[in-house]
Amino acid sequence: MELNEKSSRIPGFYNMSVEERLKIVKEWANLTDDEVAILRNFGNLDPSIASCISENVIGVMCYPFSIAPNFKINGKDYLIPMVTEEPSVVAAASNAARFMRRDGGIKALADKQYMVAQIHIMKSLMPRYSALEILIHKDEILEIANSTNKTLVSLGGGAKDIEVRILETRRGPVIAVHLIVDVLDAMGANTVNTMAEAVAHLIEKITGGEARLKIVSNYAIYRLTRSWVKIPVDDIGLDVAEKIVDASAIAEADVFRAVTHNKGILNGVIAVALATAQDHRAIEAGAHAYAARSGSYKPLSTWNIENGYLVGALEMPLQVGVVGGTVKVHPIARIALKILGVKTAKELAEIMAAVGLAQNFAALKALVTTGIQAGHMKLHARNLAIMAGATGELIDMIAETMIREGKISFDYARELLQKLVKTGDK
Ligand code: MEV
Repeated sequence: MELNEKSSRIPGFYNMSVEERLKIVKEWANLTDDEVAILRNFGNLDPSIASCISENVIGVMCYPFSIAPNFKINGKDYLIPMVTEEPSVVAAASNAARFMRRDGGIKALADKQYMVAQIHIMKSLMPRYSALEILIHKDEILEIANSTNKTLVSLGGGAKDIEVRILETRRGPVIAVHLIVDVLDAMGANTVNTMAEAVAHLIEKITGGEARLKIVSNYAIYRLTRSWVKIPVDDIGLDVAEKIVDASAIAEADVFRAVTHNKGILNGVIAVALATAQDHRAIEAGAHAYAARSGSYKPLSTWNIENGYLVGALEMPLQVGVVGGTVKVHPIARIALKILGVKTAKELAEIMAAVGLAQNFAALKALVTTGIQAGHMKLHARNLAIMAGATGELIDMIAETMIREGKISFDYARELLQKLVKTGDK
């Protein structure tokens, strides 16, 4: 057996400068000077901001920051900033939005911005009795919670209500206490975590139990956003519209398909979430849990034909914020919000739900017509042409030739480029 002499135990790594960390990682991975130079390029994110956002930073990783035009949502036009590593997502969203501009465009409506903080109480000798006792002390508990965030309360937000549930776990009965908090324009996790920690002691006293967990729930069921749209069947053709409804029905009946259907929705939602520096894991976790709320996993959107229209409707929890957290410190996120022109979490959630629905429509339309690979292959072929060194109009010429001849490869792109350049020289 070969001995691994390298140790990943590096005391004080977190305290080192970016340069010191880079030196260690360079040696560890035999990085070249060129590779280190790439890491040293922090682009539009100042190292000091990067180090505020995360720990042990040695660089930043850029993804394309794109704009999807054509969106009309609740009667207002938007340019949508999107960040994604996946080709075709932005093109598909922009294209779908063109079909959704009539009658005010895509409609969307978000609930109030209520988050849930949970306090899980164990070891209460009388869990069922104590759970109800908690409700008697509701005002006192809400007051303590609200004392942690006077600003939020002064703006009309804050802890509003309490719920209690009894859970039967393999470690005995647990009282789950929910603080329902209006977090206004914040994503709210920090706010409600502080509240949960602040009220835990009183709840322990009331129940005679121990508060085991005090944390936000990302199952944000009081923070749903709905989006809906009607597209004249004539705009896409009855055959395509019917097939989109077929696809919707298949997703309702088949969990394997429902997951991919929802992934298509999240392609749009998460691209906006990344551009605006949201906690996209929270959104995804909440979305999937909501999709499974009936006990079996279902699509978040449905499509039907009604009175000559293809009608799409989406409903999902969206826990997003426009104040606090990374949103405030990341310069690109701030620019993204400015491009959107949004000032409230509600509006941002509505935009995201609208983009999710458009993305879903684009995917289903492609799937039931040309198939998804046609668009992907076009982009892939273009990328290969660019990698081979093509520029300007040569990119499309090479991509189109490769697609027409069914030979899509880097080597063929290079060969075509050489031929075209030679012809051009003559
Ligand atoms: C690919 O990223 C997303 C799709 O698979 C979504 C779908 O199948 O509905 C195309």
